[in-house]
Amino acid sequence: MMRALIATVAVMSFVGFCRADDVSTGKQLANINCARCHALGEIGDSPFKAAPPFRIIHENYSEGELEDSFNEGVAVAHPAMPDWNMTSDEARQLAAFVMSFGEQKKDVSKGRALAVANCSRCHAIDDASENSFAAAPPFRDVVKRYDPEALAEALAEGIATGHPAMPEFEFSVEQVGSLLAYFKDLEASARAQEQ
Ligand code: HEC
Ligand code: HEC
Repeated sequence: MMRALIATVAVMSFVGFCRADDVSTGKQLANINCARCHALGEIGDSPFKAAPPFRIIHENYSEGELEDSFNEGVAVAHPAMPDWNMTSDEARQLAAFVMSFGEQKKDVSKGRALAVANCSRCHAIDDASENSFAAAPPFRDVVKRYDPEALAEALAEGIATGHPAMPEFEFSVEQVGSLLAYFKDLEASARAQEQ
């Protein structure tokens, strides 16, 4: 059983790794070729107003459509944009990067749902609400003190922060991924509020 579990985790992280690789290469390509017109981040306006920020483009396409149109040069042949014959690798990588904004959002909302179900009766889980249990620190402060990656790791191992009265949690690899996305999102908005 344990061996099967380890094998599953190894396969999942391998697939995750290739995918993460495409997303990060796609991001580099976009930085070089697209950033002077499109906003590439989670926030911010496009330098060229008429160019939609990449974070909303996923709403109108599927990944396959986008990759196809990059291959055919259709979506890319927009006005004012220099011609660029992408290789099929580049088309796949750019499509993976553009679509990753949609996945992040899905993950964040799954993670938020997990936090609502498992943590919110003690912790304030978002950037505004109050704690229901005074001794439990609000997550918006927790994510500033701890690296979200480290938190997620602690959760994967079965969090033993010596929470009194806290039930033991067992989260799957996927659930930990969603919680990590949620913590990162919360950290970003907590830091934004600070400024
Ligand atoms: C010189 C400015 C410029 C550059 C550089 C540029 N774009 Fe665009 N892009 C635009 C504008 C303006 C639009 C919106 C108007 C249009 O669709 O013709 C757009 C639209 C798009 C759309 C369609 C969005 C939608 O919702 O339909 C995609 C996809 C896209 N760009 C991808 C890219 C990618 C990928 C790169 C880099 C490889 C890139 N663009 C580089 C200006 C640019
Ligand atoms: C029954 C109440 C309760 C629930 C449910 C609960 N916690 Fe806690 N948690 C606490 C209390 C109280 C503390 C502070 C005292 C302590 O650290 O021992 C705490 C502390 C923590 C800390 C450490 C914060 C720090 O600054 O060191 C983390 C991380 C944490 N909780 C995460 C979670 C997560 C994630 C969930 C949901 C999966 C959760 N907790 C659910 C009561 C709870």
